[in-house]
Amino acid sequence: MLKGKVALVTGGSRGIGKAIAIKLAQEGASVVVNFFRRREAAQETVQEIEKLGVSAQAIRANVGEPEKIDEMFHTIADSFGRLDILVSNAASGLPRQAMDLDPKGWAWTLDINARALLLLAQRAVKLMDDRAGKIVAISSLGSSIIWPGYAPIGISKATLEAVMRYLAIELAPRDICVNAVSASIVATDSGMFFLKAAQAGQIPALPTPPAGRLVSVEDVANVVAFLCSEAAFMIRGQTIVVDGGMSIAPFNITKQGIGD
Ligand SMILES: NC(=O)c1ccc[n+]([C@@H]2O[C@H](COP(=O)([O-])OP(=O)(O)OC[C@H]3O[C@@H](n4cnc5c(N)ncnc54)[C@H](OP(=O)(O)O)[C@@H]3O)[C@@H](O)[C@H]2O)c1
Repeated sequence: MLKGKVALVTGGSRGIGKAIAIKLAQEGASVVVNFFRRREAAQETVQEIEKLGVSAQAIRANVGEPEKIDEMFHTIADSFGRLDILVSNAASGLPRQAMDLDPKGWAWTLDINARALLLLAQRAVKLMDDRAGKIVAISSLGSSIIWPGYAPIGISKATLEAVMRYLAIELAPRDICVNAVSASIVATDSGMFFLKAAQAGQIPALPTPPAGRLVSVEDVANVVAFLCSEAAFMIRGQTIVVDGGMSIAPFNITKQGIGD
């Protein structure tokens, strides 16, 4: 249970971040819902969280900009005075091959998807004191598996996981647990972009996970909530894969077994 805890979920207004924000609220945490462009979605999420009987606040900040991160933490300090859980979930990036990635695209994607974890964690721990804080980064299988067109995001996720491991060891003496959750494709707005491109034959299609369906936003949120619980205290610097078995069996499996 997370009763009395305060959580920040970046990109908590839509998709996987929203499911995480709601799951943490269901566990009793007050939640800061960070967003960038769509204020209305963030406000809707805040209202859904408040109906669960905990407090919530939407804060606009582009996590790719250090000054905006600073402003967000000033607001969190003013409103809540502390932070127990940081979920670095927000991500961005255009579909590109590595050979077509230019310095601007590199900086945009790496700043939002990987550097943000570092800057957020540096500020978050100041509000965590030695309160056994939790930090969870949201990654994807593209950090280690190649998917054409996913190069900028995949590279940023590999960097994110490396940042996460360094933070896990540096913050271990302060009883702050740092881990990542890595998912295969999920049918959010961003996920649908890639699923539609695959259906249109623009990129190779992925197999259905051996578990028989796509990973849902709740599948990811449940694992994040577990990593934020005391039951996960001895898990440090790990990337927990939530993919229905896809990464170890990247082929289609029929009801009868391995096929197609
Ligand atoms: N969907 C998948 O298939 C999948 C698979 C594996 C991992 N993931 C990871 O899961 C996380 C969430 O993905 P999703 O599919 O749920 O994404 P999504 O539906 O596109 O939602 C993205 C969220 O991030 C926010 N955001 C985007 N850029 C931001 C920025 N610069 N600063 C602050 N917030 C920003 C958005 O806010 P606004 O709407 O206000 O801009 C929105 O709340 C990402 O880290 C993604 O890489 C996704």
